[in-house]
Amino acid sequence: MGAPYVLSKPPGVALIGGGFIGPVHAEALRRLGIPVVGVLDLDLARATVVAEQLGGVKPYGKIEDLLADPNVQSVHIASPNPAHFEQAKRCLQAGKHVLCEKPLAITSAETAELVKLAASKPELAAGVNYNVRFYSVAREMRERVSKGDLGQILSIQGSYTQDWLLLDTDYNWRVEPDGATNLRAVADIGTHWMDLAQSITGRHITSVLSDLATFHPVRKRPVGPTDTFGGSAGKGAHVDVPISTEDYGAVMMRLEGGIRGVYYVSQAFAGRKNRLFLEVCGTEGSMTWDSQAPDELTIGRRGRLNEFLQRDPSNLSPAAAAMSHYPGGHAEGFPDAFKQLFASFYGWIASDRKSKPDFPTFADGAYEVRICEAIAASAKKGAWTEVSHA
Ligand SMILES: NC(=O)c1ccc[n+]([C@@H]2O[C@H](COP(=O)([O-])OP(=O)(O)OC[C@H]3O[C@@H](n4cnc5c(N)ncnc54)[C@H](O)[C@@H]3O)[C@@H](O)[C@H]2O)c1
Repeated sequence: MGAPYVLSKPPGVALIGGGFIGPVHAEALRRLGIPVVGVLDLDLARATVVAEQLGGVKPYGKIEDLLADPNVQSVHIASPNPAHFEQAKRCLQAGKHVLCEKPLAITSAETAELVKLAASKPELAAGVNYNVRFYSVAREMRERVSKGDLGQILSIQGSYTQDWLLLDTDYNWRVEPDGATNLRAVADIGTHWMDLAQSITGRHITSVLSDLATFHPVRKRPVGPTDTFGGSAGKGAHVDVPISTEDYGAVMMRLEGGIRGVYYVSQAFAGRKNRLFLEVCGTEGSMTWDSQAPDELTIGRRGRLNEFLQRDPSNLSPAAAAMSHYPGGHAEGFPDAFKQLFASFYGWIASDRKSKPDFPTFADGAYEVRICEAIAASAKKGAWTEVSHA
């Protein structure tokens, strides 16, 4: 079992964005003993409300105030996607470590600039919160693939499905075009699946063939604010808004080494709350994992009995066991994956900062955006499309 993580001199962290996921960051940081010192939101009034909810941290109404705060050495960006680029850039320029929510930015030109900027500041940590690879069982899959337990990898399949945008009365900033790829389900949840697939196989996705569908060409935007996962606007006052972002996407892919892959995403799948499903197949076996039963892994065999692994640190490879802080039968899940990613991020900061980071880097985040651009282009022309080189 990995020891609970403690840093002797943890950096002070400020959050940008106090909606759904910002407070999840705060909770995971606090479980690691890393202090949350302040929060920036759209304006000072809103930041003040969130700062109170976070236990009386400092509210900032402007990024300049956050950057000028001497107690802030690291910034977690949890604002809507189109704001990430400018905020990440300014934080790095001001000498802050940056952990940015996914996707890193909305164009590959932006992500290339961020990768370059991060490379010019090797003393700063620059990561993207692809947290799914920090479930210990997901890491176990990666470890088993890398040591050849499945033989040669042939294919990887799966899906990421939710139902919180099923109705035309469901509304959120995500359904609006970002002005770049204008991808929604693929960028929002598909990039988690693709990050995991690449992390487990150790291979990049090199080309894609995609099909995208918008089931609600018009949605009813409530008059007034809406919360992420906040439910339907129902019969309240609303305005009709034309929608072009996809509710559904299916993506076939080729990965390095000849591996074939396919997955679909849907945010209109009744009854599916937040389910990432992935199976990886090799010449010696297969593995199947469902994020809604995250402590369980099925290992398929031909010619002998299939295996079932229930997470317990004593049953995991060393790298996966280090990400598992509770004994078997004591469920670990979504908040733990955040905690483990942050432990990796702040562990790297506490180290000599010369080793290759284990957390998803800006380069990983940039690659995801380039895959998204290929997916959007493929859907438009109905043809296989190569992922561009950096
Ligand atoms: N890793 C994950 O599992 C995960 C889960 C959910 C969301 N996310 C990502 O986190 C980000 C935020 O998503 P969310 O669901 O929390 O959204 P949200 O709408 O619930 O919260 C966003 C917050 O940011 C504030 N905000 C808006 N514009 C801002 C700006 N320019 N500067 C500062 N604050 C601003 C809003 O007022 C709101 O409080 C997105 O990039 C999303 O993709 C990641």
